[in-house]
Amino acid sequence: MINEKLEKAFNDQINKELYSEYLYLAMKLHFQQLNLQGFVNWFNVQVQEEHAHAMGMIDYLDERGGCCVLEAIDKPVIEGKTILEIFEQVLKHEEFVTSRINHLADVAEEVKDRAALHFLEWYLKEQVEEEASVNGVLATLRLIGDDKKALLMIDKDLAARTFNPPIIG
Ligand code: FEO
Repeated sequence: MINEKLEKAFNDQINKELYSEYLYLAMKLHFQQLNLQGFVNWFNVQVQEEHAHAMGMIDYLDERGGCCVLEAIDKPVIEGKTILEIFEQVLKHEEFVTSRINHLADVAEEVKDRAALHFLEWYLKEQVEEEASVNGVLATLRLIGDDKKALLMIDKDLAARTFNPPIIG
């Protein structure tokens, strides 16, 4: 049976993952309005990844005899106006998620749950990849500045991203 404090921390993180899914869905819709289909695809993959992250934790809680309590999901707000600002928000959000997963791992350590710590290693590694992926797009966006032709080329590149269902844990 999972420790109560750890169960609550998992539930908090499940809410954050579902919020991430919601935020990226809002961003996907934003790019749909701009008719930048590569960016739409990039965010669509994000949406699916965040869904998988949440489901991975939901299944794990169940496996450990815990209870998943679904709370309200905050309204997603796109803070930036430009594409660069939107990706800066994505990076800031992913850094926040990384800090929350680190916190979750701290709780697992505090209650001496080594199995949970082992499970969370996958998420910590995933966060390194997530931040690197966003940083990659940000670097290219900074490089091209206001060049519309180059933006269309990035859009074409982002169209190639595919979702590979992760094997979590
Ligand atoms: Fe589930 Fe993008 O972190």
